[in-house]
This record gives sequence, C-alpha cells and structure tokens, in this order.
Amino acid sequence: MIIARSIKKIREVILPLKQQGITIGFVPTMGALHEGHLSLIKKARIQTQFLVVSIFVNPIQFGPREDFKVYPRRLSRDKKLLRQAGVDLLFYPSASQMYKQDFSTYVEETTLSHVLCGLSRPGHFRGVTTVVAKLFNIVTPDISYFGQKDYQQAQIIKRMVADLNFNIKIKVLPIVRDKDGLALSSRNSYLDKISRQQALCLYRALQRAKALIASGERDAVRIKKNIRLFMRKFSLAKIDYVEIVDAETLREVKVVKKKVVIALAVFIKGVRLIDNMLVDMKKGRFI
Ligand code: PAJ
Repeated sequence: MIIARSIKKIREVILPLKQQGITIGFVPTMGALHEGHLSLIKKARIQTQFLVVSIFVNPIQFGPREDFKVYPRRLSRDKKLLRQAGVDLLFYPSASQMYKQDFSTYVEETTLSHVLCGLSRPGHFRGVTTVVAKLFNIVTPDISYFGQKDYQQAQIIKRMVADLNFNIKIKVLPIVRDKDGLALSSRNSYLDKISRQQALCLYRALQRAKALIASGERDAVRIKKNIRLFMRKFSLAKIDYVEIVDAETLREVKVVKKKVVIALAVFIKGVRLIDNMLVDMKKGRFI
C-alpha cells in the first residue's frame, strides 16, 4: 500500500493510472476504522481497479464545542486494516497540507444542509462539502463510496456532485450495525457501559417505527410522537431530533408514502449519536 501525505505525491501516482484508463475508487474517512468503513472499502475493492482511502480528521467540519481534539486517532491499526483490505493508496494529509494559512474558499450546499443535523451543527456540512470537494479534486476518482449511516451527508454530497458537475459516481451503502443493532460509529468509543446500553434507544425506536408502519400507521406526526414517548424509557438519552422526511428533499412529510427517511439524533451524556431508516413504501422495504 502506497502512503501519500502530500497532494503532489498522490497526483504523481494517480495521473498515469488515469491515462491508462484504470478506474479509481475512493472512500473518504476520518479514520478509527470499523466494519462500517470496511464495508465501503470492500465494495470499492470489487468495483474499481485502483482503490484510494483517505484518513483526515477535518477540522473545519467540527464546531468550536465539538470533539475535534479528542476524536479517536488510530493510525497504525487503521493502516493494518487497510493493507488487509487490499487498499492501493492511503492518503493521509496533515491539516496544513489541506488548509494553507490563507485558505478562504468554501463549498456550501444551501438547502439540504440546513435541516436535521444542519440545525444543531451549524457550519458542519459546509466543512464536509469543502473537504470532500477538495479530496475529489485531489484523488479524481471515478466512483466514491459513502455510508447511509450519514444519510444527510450522502444526499448533500450527491447534490454537490450534480450541482458542480463533478464527473464522479456516488454510491451509498447500507448501515453496518453491531449484533444488538447499534449502528457502528467511531464515536461509539466514547460510550461507557451504561451509555452503550442507552444508545440502543436509536435502533429500538427505528424498529418501533417500522412495526407501526407495518401495522398500517401512515401519520408521520403520530409516529414521531410515539417514538419520542418510547425514547423516554432511556433516561440518559436527550433527543436532538426525531424527524420523518422525504428521502430526496429531506423536507418534513405529514404522511408516510413513497420514500421517506426516519432520522434520529440523540445526546447520551454529551455524546451525539445519529441513526436512520429508509422506508420505501412502493417496494415495502425498510433499509
Ligand atoms: P467518517 O465518519 O469516518 O465516515 C466515513 C464513511 O463511512 C462515511 O461515508 C460514513 O457514512 C461511513 N460510515 C460510518 N459508519 C458507518 C456504518 N455503521 N455503516 C456504513 N457506513 C458507515 O463521514 C465522514 O467520516 C466525514 O464526514 C468525511 C465524509 C470523511 C468528510 O470528512
């Protein structure tokens, strides 16, 4: 596995490959890799010829009171996992490599970014779209892979790619969960034993919503109320939002029909966790 820390180096590797028509796959991450990341990497390994993974804890997507400083960094373990997964190139830039001192240009999606997580994390998605646009320009992938775990992020990236004419295909892959249903996340490492149990409120609430819909409930307001009541049982979980939104526009819906996403965010002892379920009423599928 090639390890590139500079933009110059990665360009030197990628350019001749592009000229030979080799397809480049790309999985951007912030490291502390888990099976969720690895599911993207495995799929990309199969579908593309040269596979690039980036690890960069992007300072500009963290708010001033968020966890940038303590975000888990496990580089040697990550490198081992990436080698085992057959990754061709790890891009692991420093913050100064990505953001020069006089950096002053941002990429901002202005509609989808202002709902759900955008409300409680102002500036977060601007940080994400800016770094992903930069990474796309550096790596020049043919296909880039994202997780449904961050549903809103994936939708925003798709919109950015369409709006700015990036010649890149975006694939979104399903949420990987622990045995008991908790969605894998690098932030789960912040949870102590009690918080870990309480974190199950997210998955359980989604399962409850699924049961309600399966039994014929279509009223989004009633489903949301029911979920909120249910989550009260988890005394440490402080709800940030419980929303049912259109899967494309991310606008709130009144009635569950066509394709909607049930999106949840909670704080557990200050740790912010998110989860979601895509409901495809046409196909009768809960993903
Ligand atoms: P990070 O949280 O490291 O996630 C990297 C990718 O892994 C994202 O596309 C995310 O949705 C996916 N992922 C995380 N947990 C997952 C799970 N349990 N199942 C499936 N996929 C999962 O998301 C980011 O980093 C950053 O915002 C980034 C896009 C790298 C920009 O800095």
